[in-house]
Amino acid sequence: MSAINYSEKIPNNVDLGGDRTLQRALEQWQPNFINWWDDMGPEGTTDNEVYLRTAVSVDPQGWAQFGHVKMRDYRWGIFLNHGEADRTIHFGDHKGEKAWQDVPGEHRANLRRIIVTQGDTEPASVEQQRHLGKTAPSMYDLRNLFQINVEEGRHLWAMVYLLHKHFGRDGREEAEALLERRSGQEDNPRILQAFNEETPDWLSFFMFTYFTDRDGKFQLCALAESSFDPLARTTKFMLTEEAHHMFVGESGISRIIQRTCAKMNELKSDDVGLLRAAGVIDLPTLQRYLNFHFSVTIDLFGADESSNAATFYSTGIKGRYEETKRDDDHVLRGQTYKVLNVVNCQLQEKEVPMLNALNEVLRDDFIKDSVGGVERWNRVIDKAGLPHRLSVPHKAFHRNIGALSGAKVSPDGRVLSEQEWSAKVGDWLPTAEDRAFVQSLMGRVVEPGKFANWIAPPAIGINRQPVDFEYVRFN
Ligand SMILES: [Fe+2]
Ligand SMILES: [Fe+2]
Repeated sequence: MSAINYSEKIPNNVDLGGDRTLQRALEQWQPNFINWWDDMGPEGTTDNEVYLRTAVSVDPQGWAQFGHVKMRDYRWGIFLNHGEADRTIHFGDHKGEKAWQDVPGEHRANLRRIIVTQGDTEPASVEQQRHLGKTAPSMYDLRNLFQINVEEGRHLWAMVYLLHKHFGRDGREEAEALLERRSGQEDNPRILQAFNEETPDWLSFFMFTYFTDRDGKFQLCALAESSFDPLARTTKFMLTEEAHHMFVGESGISRIIQRTCAKMNELKSDDVGLLRAAGVIDLPTLQRYLNFHFSVTIDLFGADESSNAATFYSTGIKGRYEETKRDDDHVLRGQTYKVLNVVNCQLQEKEVPMLNALNEVLRDDFIKDSVGGVERWNRVIDKAGLPHRLSVPHKAFHRNIGALSGAKVSPDGRVLSEQEWSAKVGDWLPTAEDRAFVQSLMGRVVEPGKFANWIAPPAIGINRQPVDFEYVRFN
C-alpha cells in the first residue's frame, strides 16, 4: 500500500475501506475534528484560500502537491510510510524478535500514554498560534503559518488513527478527549506545560518552530524506532512534514537577524534604544527570547533520571535518536551516562545507569542539533561584518523539570544565589518591556511581496514561486 486513496472521505494509504468498522468510527470523529478546527483553528480564516501542499504519496520524491485551498477543505488523512517486510526489533530486551503489528497487551497502557501525549501537542500548537494571522509580517509568512497549522492537524489524525485502530473503546475515548482539552485552559489544559503557554507574537512563533518543533522531531525520531510498527511508520512520515516547520523557524529568525544587522550597519550602532526606535528587534532581545524558548523546550524531554524512560526503551516502545547508527549493544544494561545536579552550590556530574538517563540522552542530542542552527544565525551576523554572537544557554539555565528544577543558574553555567538571580534575570529572560516592545512591532502586512519593517524577505518563495506570489487569497 503506498498510493494515497483520495476518493474516500478520509484520504489514506492504509486500506481504510477494507475495515468498515474502523472507517465508520473515524468518519464519525471527522466532523468533530472539523468543529474543533472551526472553533480553535486559525482565527477568521474561513474564506481564505491558501497555497498549501498536500501529500499525494509517501515516497521521498514528489509527495507534495501545491494549490490554493480553503483550510477547512484540506484533505487531512492517514499516511504511513512503507512497511519493511519481516522487520525485527532492534533494541531493548526484545531485540531480534519480530516487530509488532498490533499492541501487545502488556505494553498497551504505556503505548497509549505515549501516543496520547504526542497527539495532544498537535492540536495544542494550532490553538497556541490561532491569533497570529492577525499580525502576520507578510503573506509569505502567513502561508507558512497556515501550512504548519494544517499539518499539525494532520499529525493529530496520525495519532487518532492509531488510537482508533489499536486501542478499542479506550482509544476512541482518548481521541475525543484530544478535541476537548484546550491550550492554556485552566480546567482542561493540554498535557504538557510548554503547550499551554501563549505564542503571542511572531518572534515567539519562530523561536517555537525552531526549538519546540525540533523537540517534536526528536520525539518522533525516537518513536520511529518503535517496535510497534504502525507507530514507527506513521512517525516517519510525520518527520517529513516536521522538517518544513523547523525551516520556518530557522529562516524566520535568520531573516529577523538579517534585518536587524542591516539597521545596525546603517545606524553604525548597537544601541538598543536606537534600534528599537528604528523598528527592529535588537540582538539582546533576540537572545533573551532564545534563552526562554530553549530552556522551556529542553524541559519537554522530562526528568534526567526516569524509570519510565528505562521501561519504554527496554520494552522496545521508544528507541533513541538514530538508534541504528549507534554502535553499542542496543540493550544498555550495565552502561552509564552522566547527568547534572547541584551539590554545594556547584554543578556536578553524576554517573547513573544509562537506561534511566535516556531522557537526558535525547535532550543532549537535541541540544547538539539546535546549536547547529544558532551557528548558522551567527553566520548571518558575521556576514554583516558585526562582532555580536548568539548562543544557547547552559542546559541548567531556567529549568523546571528534573534534578535541576528551580536551580538558579546563569546562562554561562554558574550557580547563583536567589539575590544574584533576581538582579540579573531581566538580562537573561524576556521582560515585560521586551514583550511589549515586540508586540508593538506586530502589525499585519499582507500585500503580496511586502514585508514588515522588522524582518527581511526570504531569498526564495515556496515551491519556486516568486516571493510576491499571492500565497493567500482573502476573498
Ligand atoms: Fe506535529
Ligand atoms: Fe510541527
